[in-house]
Amino acid sequence: MVEISPSILAADFVRLGEQVDEVERGGARMLHVDVMDGRFVPNISIGVPVVESLSRHTDLLLDCHLMVEGPDPYLRPFYRAGARMLTVHQEACPHLARTVDAIRGLGASAGVALNPATPLGSLEDILPAVDLVLVMSVNPGFGGQRFIESAVGKIARLAAMRADRGLRFRIQVDGGVGAGNAARLGRAGCDILVAGSSVFGSADAAAAVRDLRERANPPALVRA
Ligand code: DX5
Ligand code: ZN
Repeated sequence: MVEISPSILAADFVRLGEQVDEVERGGARMLHVDVMDGRFVPNISIGVPVVESLSRHTDLLLDCHLMVEGPDPYLRPFYRAGARMLTVHQEACPHLARTVDAIRGLGASAGVALNPATPLGSLEDILPAVDLVLVMSVNPGFGGQRFIESAVGKIARLAAMRADRGLRFRIQVDGGVGAGNAARLGRAGCDILVAGSSVFGSADAAAAVRDLRERANPPALVRA
């Protein structure tokens, strides 16, 4: 079953609690939290206090995407705040295996993200140790950007690598995801679609989540 992880970067932060409830009504089981440090990416977003408030408000799985240079000192604070999936960038971690071990040691799922220009081959050795690979389909830093088409082929190649090697990590895609590409991403082998502006920019966020789920899971393709 392909899941939708709504990205709160596109939410109205004044109404964050209500907006989280809306996507939960639409069938979301996780929430994507974009953490930007102004160094790894040219933008600053939100951090630990927002994750704390979210975890007090909701049972949705908090999927934290750390766009942070050298994220190691922040892993435990995010975990303690309630994050249960922590994704770091391959490009931001000089000792990626140590970082992935640290995340799993906390008891969270460990994800590794790849920028559009970073090849899949850079993950060859770490793949058996990760729970999730995040394929960026925009250059990270901002919501509302245009989807980079080459991400579809990259996801299909990653899904083939996973099958060849008998691995079980999940594949997530992030950036420019919406009604126009959800079906193709599901077919390519993606398990989790992150969607910001196509969900929170729509008049009915619950309906937008339902629509994306339906598009990504057409009846003939529903996987158990
Ligand atoms: C971009 C972030 C994304 C962003 C996606 O750096 O990682 O999660 O919120 O937003 P949309 O869906 O609007 O492209
Ligand atoms: Zn993200």
